[in-house]
Amino acid sequence: MKIAILPGDGIGPEIINQAIKVLKALGEPLEMESAPVGGAAYALSGHPLPDATLKLAKQADAVLFGAVGDFKYDNLERALRPEQAILGLRKHLQLFANFRPAILYPELAGASSLKPEIVSGLDILIIRELTGDIYFGQPRGVRECPDGPFKGQREGFDTMRYAEGEIRRIAHVAFQAAQKRDKRLTSVDKANVLETFQFWREIVSDVHRDYPDVALDHMYVDNAAMQLVRAPKKFDVVVTGNMFGDILSDAAAMLTGSIGMLPSASLDAGNKGLYEPSHGSAPDIAGKGIANPLATILSAAMMLRFSLNRAEQAQRIENAVKKVLAQGLRTPDIFEPGTTRVGTEQMGDAVVAALV
Ligand code: IPM
Ligand code: MG
Repeated sequence: MKIAILPGDGIGPEIINQAIKVLKALGEPLEMESAPVGGAAYALSGHPLPDATLKLAKQADAVLFGAVGDFKYDNLERALRPEQAILGLRKHLQLFANFRPAILYPELAGASSLKPEIVSGLDILIIRELTGDIYFGQPRGVRECPDGPFKGQREGFDTMRYAEGEIRRIAHVAFQAAQKRDKRLTSVDKANVLETFQFWREIVSDVHRDYPDVALDHMYVDNAAMQLVRAPKKFDVVVTGNMFGDILSDAAAMLTGSIGMLPSASLDAGNKGLYEPSHGSAPDIAGKGIANPLATILSAAMMLRFSLNRAEQAQRIENAVKKVLAQGLRTPDIFEPGTTRVGTEQMGDAVVAALV
C-alpha cells in the first residue's frame, strides 16, 4: 500500500512528521513517498501543485496531506496561491465527498467556547460536497458589469451550479453514512432564495426514497448556523454544498474546543481519498514545535479505515489518542490548568507509546 505524503506549508511538515511516526509504529507494510505542495512547492518549482506531485497523488492508494498557505504568498495571483494545490487535488482526483466529523472528547469539554452541557457528548458528521458549487462553477472572473445601476463598472462574479448527478452522488454518500450512525440526515440549503439549492432540495428528497430507514429534514443554512451553536447535539449527519459546508464545518469544529483535534477525509467514488486535518497551516506558530498533531494523526486513522481497509489499525490509533488525552497531555491549543503542557513532538511520541 502506497501513501503519498504531502506536508505543505506552515505547521504542515511538523504535524505530518508525527503522523508518519505513528504510522510507522503500526508495523504494517506501508510505503510512503513525500512530495512538495502549496507554497513550499511554489518556492521550489514555481507552481503550488507540480505535475510530479499530482502524479504521485494519483498513483498512491491514499494521500496524507498537511496544510497549505502562508502570508508570504498573499500577493500572488490566484492561480499560483498555495490554496490552489488543495483545490486542484480535489478536482483532479474527483474527491467529491468530504467527511468532517466534529467529536467532543469528554476530556476537552472545558475547551469549548460553549457551555459543557450544550456540547458534552457531541458527535456529528458534516458531509460537504467538495468539487462543485461556486468554488468551481464557470463562468467566473472580473468583467465590465453588463446591467443594473452599476452598469459599466468592473464587477467580480462567480457561478453557483450543481448538476443533478452531482447532487445525487453526494446524497447517496450521506444517506449511507447516516445508515451507519443514528439514521438522521439534515440537508442544508438555501432553497428559499437560490435556484441551485431549491433544485438541491428536490434531488435530495428524491434520493431519500431509496433510504426509508433514514429520517431526512431540510434546513436553511442560516438556521443551521444558529442551531449549530444553540443545540448542536440535535444533529447527526449534515449534508450540504461546498460553500455552506466550508463555513458550517469550521463552526462545528470550534464547538469541540479545538480545531486542532479534527481529522477529515475527502473521498472519490471508489473510496480512494485524501486525508487532512480540518485546520489550516497556522504560519504564525510554524516551527515553534507547539502545533497540535492529533488532527493529522486522527486523519491517518481515517485513511487506514476508509482507503486502506485497516479498520483495526485505525482503532488502535484512535484508542491511543484517547489514552494520551486521559493522561492529561495537552498541546497549548487545548491546555487547561491541571493538565500537562506538551509540544508537537512529545504529543506524537506519547501517541506512539500509547499504541497497544
Ligand atoms: C477548507 C479550506 C479550503 C476551502 C481552502 C484552503 C481553499 O478552507 O478545506 O475548508 O475553502 O475549502
Ligand atoms: Mg474551510
